[in-house]
Amino acid sequence: MEESYRQLKLEVEKCRKCDLWRESKHHILGEGPLNSKIMLVGLGPGYHENIEGRPFVGAAGKLLNNLLTLAGLERGEVYITNVIKCYLPDNKAADEQVKTCGQYLDRQIDLLKPKVVIALGSVATKYLFEKHGLQYTSMDKLHGRILKVESLTCNRFIVAMYHPASALYNPSMKEVLEKDWKKLGEALLKILTESF
Ligand code: URA
Repeated sequence: MEESYRQLKLEVEKCRKCDLWRESKHHILGEGPLNSKIMLVGLGPGYHENIEGRPFVGAAGKLLNNLLTLAGLERGEVYITNVIKCYLPDNKAADEQVKTCGQYLDRQIDLLKPKVVIALGSVATKYLFEKHGLQYTSMDKLHGRILKVESLTCNRFIVAMYHPASALYNPSMKEVLEKDWKKLGEALLKILTESF
């Protein structure tokens, strides 16, 4: 698995499948232990991420770190990635970019086989719901929901969460996010000890 991951990383670093590479200092595959049971999926690297070459290191990253703590998790124990691997200057990805770059995320999930995939925000939630045959409605309806996906080829939980950055634009969201993450922490205690 490590070798296939290394290969995937090299492929992503050389990717020219859309124009986003032109503004990107780094193509960021992800960060964290490859054997983590938990994968977090955001939208795409912003300004600070593009400078540092790491996901979620800017203002949204600081909020995410706090939310992880509320859920009883340490950042170093989860694997963090994004749907889009290149710098997204205005935080908006075209459908075609999501479709194209999403293929890398599919391969990451196949390789790392996380038990729980936490989608951060609507783009990641929509993408992961569609991939897993779940019906996406809206973040207002889905946030905090933990859905179990069971099939011959896949046994995992998909979690829909508001993007941490939503609390940057709308401070009243902070409370909602904090509540969701506390609840998620409690659910994770059960999920991660369950054998399946
Ligand atoms: N927002 C994201 O969705 N991803 C990052 O890596 C940083 C901010």
